[in-house]
Amino acid sequence: MSNAELVARDTAHLIHPLHSTAGHQGARVWVSGRGALLTDADGREYIDGLAGLWNVLAGHGRRELAEAARAQAGTLAYASGYNGSSNEPAIALAEQLAALTYPSINHFFFTCGGSESTESSIKMARAYWKLRGRPEKTKVISRIEGYHGVTLAAMSATGLSAYWPLFEPRVPGFIHIPSPYPYRYEAPDGVSQGVAAADELDQAIQREGADTVAMFLAEPVQGAGGVIVPQDDYFPRVREICDRHDVLLVADEVITAFGRTGTLFALDHWDVEPDIVQFAKAITSGYVPLGGIGISDAIASTLDDDDRVWMHAYTYSAHPVGCAVALRNLRIIEDEDLPGRCVTQGDRLLAGLRGTLADHPHVGDIRGKGLMCAVELVADRATKARFPAADQVGPRVHAAASERGLFSRVKADTYLLAPAAVITDEQVDRTVEILGDAIRAVVGS
Ligand SMILES: Cc1ncc(COP(=O)(O)O)c(C=O)c1O
Repeated sequence: MSNAELVARDTAHLIHPLHSTAGHQGARVWVSGRGALLTDADGREYIDGLAGLWNVLAGHGRRELAEAARAQAGTLAYASGYNGSSNEPAIALAEQLAALTYPSINHFFFTCGGSESTESSIKMARAYWKLRGRPEKTKVISRIEGYHGVTLAAMSATGLSAYWPLFEPRVPGFIHIPSPYPYRYEAPDGVSQGVAAADELDQAIQREGADTVAMFLAEPVQGAGGVIVPQDDYFPRVREICDRHDVLLVADEVITAFGRTGTLFALDHWDVEPDIVQFAKAITSGYVPLGGIGISDAIASTLDDDDRVWMHAYTYSAHPVGCAVALRNLRIIEDEDLPGRCVTQGDRLLAGLRGTLADHPHVGDIRGKGLMCAVELVADRATKARFPAADQVGPRVHAAASERGLFSRVKADTYLLAPAAVITDEQVDRTVEILGDAIRAVVGS
């Protein structure tokens, strides 16, 4: 069946994430994948510029992962993971994560994805403060341009306001501060951007009252907000501020965990340890849904030493098939040094993009860390003024790149790239060429 015929059937019955009629025009129906490539129902091959949704780190078509899922489903596809029950893959995965994550994080709760991980860390943080006798510490501070998922509390933490209007009112007690956004953040004279942006947290905590704030939630590198890489002095100062005010630092590593930025966990770039780490996506390279949170020893012992029950649960928490696939995927990440590949292929991608686009009059910023990159287009380089939203520059560049065989996503006029770590040199070079051509086709050269 052709792509067009499948889209007609799709449109008749499917509601999609971020559903809109206009946004589904020209949709591709994917039928297979291999490495960093996807094939649509017409047999056309595309570079999968975002590795699915940042998750297919090990690439498409990995027989080892399919085999791990088949073997586990044939042995024990499902059993309850509620207190009083467990399963071997979940036990082994938690042990493995204890060895791989930050030294003080050794206890794990599993979910089915990123939004559930955000909900779980918020409920863990609130429970922690209640168990510690500080029940007023409930507020969540996060950042503008931050993305933490779309369930109601996660959406309230998400700092991309486009996600809110149809679903208001948001959950109370969620506060947003500016992102450190190196390309756009304006620090006062004599203060570095990183310090000034971190001090926004200090000021917000003081404004709200430290006795009311449970946690600060932040992606080490903001992904959906436009691949925003913080300054080197940002997270060390954030850690200090959190410690000073007894506020938990929660790292949302749903995109960055397991190698995408070049280290297994991204706060390692700045020698910072969070109190809670959220993960999902690349833990299974997207082959089956799995996510989770890791908590510090201090939080774990508070939970363990109290008789009260943490009344938080998902049917599919610690799903045996998800955990078995994750274990196999972690072996691939280690055996093939995927964090190292993210560095080499990310460097090649960034150098290629800078080589072809740095002088373009409408390219405002080219940025990235590891294999997470973005090209931000602007109407005017001198003022950094954005194109009018009605011009639809980003969506048009996305369409032009798709026509040429590169499929990814845009955030407004910022084109996002995070292909699979197994992407070849030739495919990286082709990505650069296609994106350059697409940008020139839309905004001129
Ligand atoms: C940093 C971050 N947190 C949370 C989420 C939400 O994850 P999910 O879509 O699996 O609910 C995402 C998804 O892109 C994400 O990038």
